[in-house]
Amino acid sequence: MLIVIQSDKIAVARYAYQLVRNRMQDQSTFVLGLAAGTTPLLLYREMIMGFKIKELDFSGVHTFNLDEYVGLPPDHPQSYYSFMRKYLFKHVNLEKENIHFLSGISKDMEKHCQDYEKQIKQLGGIDLQILGIGRNGHIGFNEPVSSLCSRTMVRALMPGTIDDNKHFFYREGDVPRWVLTMGIGTILDAKNILLLATGPQKANAVASMVEGPVTSMCPASALQMHPEVTVVCDEAAAAKLKQRELYKWLFENDYQVREQSRMKLVHKKTLVRVNE
Ligand code: F6R
Repeated sequence: MLIVIQSDKIAVARYAYQLVRNRMQDQSTFVLGLAAGTTPLLLYREMIMGFKIKELDFSGVHTFNLDEYVGLPPDHPQSYYSFMRKYLFKHVNLEKENIHFLSGISKDMEKHCQDYEKQIKQLGGIDLQILGIGRNGHIGFNEPVSSLCSRTMVRALMPGTIDDNKHFFYREGDVPRWVLTMGIGTILDAKNILLLATGPQKANAVASMVEGPVTSMCPASALQMHPEVTVVCDEAAAAKLKQRELYKWLFENDYQVREQSRMKLVHKKTLVRVNE
């Protein structure tokens, strides 16, 4: 797990954008896993800018979102589909049929979840999964005590998460109690994972995810078992990490160097392709 600590949420979004751009530019077809919620919004804004300045091309990109509220149709103003449409989809050249989303109104939820997993597999798996983290350490909507190898399914939201999400709704009573979510096992199958965390309210969750034991009490701690995870957080979200200085050293001395040599390799491959 590579920990990148940036000064604030704007710097987090800019850094995360570079990672997304580098990965997307590596491949002509790309499967991108997306999260809703407040945290990735600035990254999505950067991605829209990236598209406008022609650094990013979404024509060969497939997206899979992590989750959707049970009971809300895609065109409901508070559905995650509407959220993603508003903050990303409608601004870039994604093909409509390449946007994959869990449906909150599916008649057979179990089959629908299995089909979602199949679609991911058929496209060769998720190349890069973007994640946020809940205050209780959830990823997707896998709340504490979720199985660390769970697959896509329907789950109940915990009271704290309902409270955290009520600002998206008119009243707390409007927040659906159930969600469809990719499982932790589904998330761990992604080839690369990029988790963003900003603000002091995420500091405990970030510390448990990175420095705590791997436990279903903190679902994000399962990411310790994945070989390609980058956590980009601001100083406030990193405040409770005991080994902050070590992560900064590793970032400067190891990670940066690896990223640069990886980019040189990609560049070399592109040159070879051009010369051929
Ligand atoms: C949303 C999702 C959630 C959020 C998490 C943090 O699709 O999967 O895990 O990433 O609840 O939400 P924000 O970013 O609103 O603090």
